Amino acid sequence: MTSTNDRFEAHRRQLAACEQSHLLDFWPELNEPQRADLLDDLDQVDLERCRPLIETHVRGRPRFALPTRIEPAPVLPVAPDAANAELYRRAEQLGADAIRAGKVAAFTVAGGQGTRLGYDGPKGGFPITPVRSHCLFHLFAQYLIGVERRYGTRPPWYVMTSPSNHEATLRIFEAHDFFGLDRADVMFFQQGQMPAFLPDGRIVLASKHRLALSPDGHGGSLQALRAGGALVDMNHRGIDYISYFQIDNPLVKAVDPLFIGLHITLNSEMSSKAVSKADDLERVGNFCLADGKLSVIEYSDLPEEYTLKRNPDGSRRFDAGSIAIHCLSRSFVERLTDDGSDVHLPWHRAEKRVTTVGSDGIPVEPDALNAVKLEMFIFDAIPLASNPIVLYTPREEEFSPVKNAEGVDSPATARRDLIRRAARWLESCGCTVPRGADGEPAVELEIAPDYAVDAVHLRERLTSPPDLTAGSTYVLE
Ligand code: UTP
Repeated sequence: MTSTNDRFEAHRRQLAACEQSHLLDFWPELNEPQRADLLDDLDQVDLERCRPLIETHVRGRPRFALPTRIEPAPVLPVAPDAANAELYRRAEQLGADAIRAGKVAAFTVAGGQGTRLGYDGPKGGFPITPVRSHCLFHLFAQYLIGVERRYGTRPPWYVMTSPSNHEATLRIFEAHDFFGLDRADVMFFQQGQMPAFLPDGRIVLASKHRLALSPDGHGGSLQALRAGGALVDMNHRGIDYISYFQIDNPLVKAVDPLFIGLHITLNSEMSSKAVSKADDLERVGNFCLADGKLSVIEYSDLPEEYTLKRNPDGSRRFDAGSIAIHCLSRSFVERLTDDGSDVHLPWHRAEKRVTTVGSDGIPVEPDALNAVKLEMFIFDAIPLASNPIVLYTPREEEFSPVKNAEGVDSPATARRDLIRRAARWLESCGCTVPRGADGEPAVELEIAPDYAVDAVHLRERLTSPPDLTAGSTYVLE
């Protein structure tokens, strides 16, 4: 066991070599537990990794190198045309077979800080369903039970947390008895962290004994899958395909046979879903062929001369927006994260407000952007994959993220979209859904995902159409 003094000495030397000695400014004033906290935080920082980034990404600003050739990415349509009909039919079958054979796992990234939502607790614990107010974790747990009902096999669930929400996430699952899942089939692991930096390159001290650390972005999930033991676990279970989604999209098809089947049949290592952008400048990443390679170019990096471009028929040329739904081959993640691999996802710089400690030791809340955070993004792995594909999915069926407390992409819009989708599914089964003069469903509807995972499943299960009256609430469970 290394003593506190030895750990302190080792850090002191390293910090001095990296011009970060200010992190120990308050050391003489700290009590033992505080010293332990500070040493634990320092253990998490890889100074060697940070050193070059401070030059390029903190003191400097990396400039996006615009590829010489930017073309729209080829995107598979929602509904197959005649040429694709057979491909889709086979793919759906193959995907369903892979689920049945236990080769598919669900993977949720839930390590984010959810700053914009401003909810006190992990976002996955946020109550979202319109009638029962089930939280996002509950909703996805029920989805996996629904998958079992439909395909006979329940995929295991890998949940990535971060140090700041890990314990709280576990408590939510414990408090709800794992939402009906077998606890052996849910694996939690934490992602890495990065410190925030002041513009001059110094790491931010958030209080006398704590660094300002935050999760290293959803791109950190690849390394975390390895470091947290998930890849080994998947290997033991015979999982070949990882169905990746974010915790904040309650509409996502957590496990989609067509998508997985297309990934398999087209030999893709990393596949993505896209929606048709709501408008030219919607703040989503753009699927492009960048110098011939499938990539996502962020909305802030794609010049307007591209985003405003039209096809001869008037349609938007760069139309496919990224919604952070992917299928990854386990072997691909293994290859990228192998010890011998020198593949690293790029870092993205974001200016943020971060609490800093003053020279008097008192934490100061800044009223302007004062620090730089660095994150990796999962979509940067796409150009590293062989045969990556993109599939369009209808926004109204599969994308309504919970980002903000109010307004767009908020709990209110997500609940509205869940109700709208439930109404459409029921109508596709021949039910009459009362609607108001504005065309909106006049019933608070909820279809439990363990009852039906999609409209086709609902049609199979619904023996008699429910009698829905305007102004009522109705849950199909
Ligand atoms: P966002 O980028 O929207 O961030 O994450 P957020 O943390 O949810 O919210 P803000 O930006 O602080 O308001 C998209 C998804 O990626 C996950 C989030 O949990 C969410 O599911 N994520 C993000 C991680 O798992 N780790 C990260 O480091 C960042």
